[in-house]
Amino acid sequence: MSDTSEIEVEALDAGSAEAELSRLSDLLARANAAYHRDDDPVMSDAEYDAAKRRNLAIEDRFPTLKRVDSPTEQVGAVPAETFGKVRHKVRMLSLGNAFEQSDVGEFDARIRRFLDLAPDAPLAYTAEPKIDGLSLSLRYEAGRLVRAATRGDGQTGEDVTANARTIEDIPEALDGAPDVLEVRGEVYMSHADFAALNERQAEAGAKTFANPRNAAAGSLRQLDAQVTAARPLRFFAYAWGELSEPLAKTQTDALDRLRVLGFQTNPETRRCDGVDGLLQRYAAIEAARADLGYDIDGVVYKVDDLALQGRLGFRSTTPRWAIAHKFAAETAWTRLEAIDINVGRTGALSPIARLRPVTVGGVIVSNATLHNEDYIAGVDNAGNPIRTGDLRVGDRVEIYRAGDVIPKVRDVDLSARLPDAEPYVFPDTCPDCGSPARREPGESVRRCTGGLICPAQRVARLKHLVSRGAMDIEGLGDKEIERFHELGWVRAPADIYTLEAQHGTGADAVAGLEGWGDTSAGNLFAAIEASRRQELARVLFGLGIRHLGEVAGRDLARHFQTWEAFLHEVDAAMPAAEAHRRAEEAILPERAAAEVEGRRARITETRAREWAEIEAKARAAWDDLIGIDGIGATLALAICDALAPGPERAAIDALLAELDPEAPETVASQSPVAGKTIVFTGSLEKMTRAEAKHQAEALGAKVSGSVSAKTDLVVTGPGAGSKAAKATELGVETIDEDGWLALIGSA
Ligand code: IVH
Repeated sequence: MSDTSEIEVEALDAGSAEAELSRLSDLLARANAAYHRDDDPVMSDAEYDAAKRRNLAIEDRFPTLKRVDSPTEQVGAVPAETFGKVRHKVRMLSLGNAFEQSDVGEFDARIRRFLDLAPDAPLAYTAEPKIDGLSLSLRYEAGRLVRAATRGDGQTGEDVTANARTIEDIPEALDGAPDVLEVRGEVYMSHADFAALNERQAEAGAKTFANPRNAAAGSLRQLDAQVTAARPLRFFAYAWGELSEPLAKTQTDALDRLRVLGFQTNPETRRCDGVDGLLQRYAAIEAARADLGYDIDGVVYKVDDLALQGRLGFRSTTPRWAIAHKFAAETAWTRLEAIDINVGRTGALSPIARLRPVTVGGVIVSNATLHNEDYIAGVDNAGNPIRTGDLRVGDRVEIYRAGDVIPKVRDVDLSARLPDAEPYVFPDTCPDCGSPARREPGESVRRCTGGLICPAQRVARLKHLVSRGAMDIEGLGDKEIERFHELGWVRAPADIYTLEAQHGTGADAVAGLEGWGDTSAGNLFAAIEASRRQELARVLFGLGIRHLGEVAGRDLARHFQTWEAFLHEVDAAMPAAEAHRRAEEAILPERAAAEVEGRRARITETRAREWAEIEAKARAAWDDLIGIDGIGATLALAICDALAPGPERAAIDALLAELDPEAPETVASQSPVAGKTIVFTGSLEKMTRAEAKHQAEALGAKVSGSVSAKTDLVVTGPGAGSKAAKATELGVETIDEDGWLALIGSA
């Protein structure tokens, strides 16, 4: 067959159409894989869209020739490792907020001033519910959906096209639409669908969602669109981006037009006259709120006349012609029945209010967070009052929920306090293991000092270790950890890896537990085995060291490559960490005094004296540790604490003896900067710091935040200060941004 790519769609016969569909299907599959999986596009967006459009046009002409693997129907055939990026042609903005009626009056007054309209001149607005979901931009070309993107930072969002195609409210094709039409609106989940989804998730032992908004976000941002397809998402259209021709002359008519094109628009939307009209509509929507069946968190007002919208334009990130009038957080009064203490992974004692169940904004609340002991006492960490008084068991308290936050206690009714109500005494021992619970100076959290002796901490740490972002052991969730811990089978981290071999509790014993069988036990041990080679970054994160999150885990893994190298450095830095802490403690009171008297010099002196005592070797290791980009003294201290000799270190050593963590992928780079430690300082002009870091790391370099003897190269921009000076002092090579670009071959 001759080259079918050259033939006009109209001119294709059935035979050549079939061949062309096959070619396009191949081409698009390759383009998808290159773009999503490999982050290495093989064609431009325009070429991709053109191929997609041509494929659709042929399918429209020869419906019977549509392939089973048609690119039009592909939902995540290649589960992407990350979402592609989409640059919005027209920025996606956010809205300014109004909380009080007076804010709405000022909004209207500003607009009138800007347009030079008299205070009593008629001015029409629209008022529509502010949907509590996440915004999405849908691009249609020639009436076909070609791209769906999240808002991201407003400039660049994520490509969720395959996911959006699975949402019923999002039409695939439009009749009579402008040639280019970007429809914007909100993806959300109804209350009923949210409840049913959570029930299904709980039954399947999967994660449940805190609220419909999180559920919607989690469902849309699935790398595998099949998962999105199984989630009941909905979409309301309320705005637009790029258009090849105007939709209408007013907001009202534009929404009507979108509805006629096949979108859902919110039925509560009304055209209103002036501020009075808006406030009336606000009251009506607030009254209807509980019966809508989905979450809204306010009412959005927009100038109805699109020509006026155009004249009003934008401030930096918000339009002048629109505002979100937010609902007050919902509150309810109820009885504080008890205060319980929960002990977390790091030993933090978190007080929880047990409440007589009460409905707040349509949700039954029976627990609320009490944060810490100051919060119960009714003061913030500076000692300022945060409500009428302290909280005592038996008090009448006001509960509030705002957006997706967990319920909190807003106020207490002192007039209803029982005469025998005692002030709450925060425990100074751990309710779980009885160890002393200590509060460090300057911290608001009290922590159990029991470490691994404390069963609550132990279980919480084990749960964290096996969780998704860490060792990610399928079949070993919270429930299983609790069970195995109770049975005494898994008490320390390493026990997970010796479980199968443990005398009497091996695979057979697990298979014999209620709810388990040979297959599930076999799967569990296979998953445990596989996790021995989990990446180093996940292992580091899984240890549950304070301040060591997923990002720090990745930074450390990239820097050290192996557990041994990491440990070697931490062990070497340990004495310096001790000295650092002593110096900080000695300096703390002095710093306050020095600041008052302006004698900063003394601090430096004290520090210098303290530092002088520290062995040079330890200090170099410490400097290196805190010099890693993203790792500061706080985290370095926490790491040294967690790995200091003792039972906790022994538990970690035992765990690591079972593991063989995988080093982060290194680029086998030919680049002259591969393996080099580089510091960027000063401002860069041709790229952002983040971009530069990314680029350097992609070429196999390590990027550090501070200059030391281990630094190979310092890249300086205008404004470079002490780091450049230090480089000169240490004799480290220094180049400017152009030098850097030349060095990496992209000048
Ligand atoms: S209009 C340029 N209308 O609220 C104006 N936004 O806080 C674009 N939102 O990012 C937004 N319901 O995600 C508009 N009826 C509505 C809305 C709405 C919810 C969201 C949207 C926006 C955010 C701003």
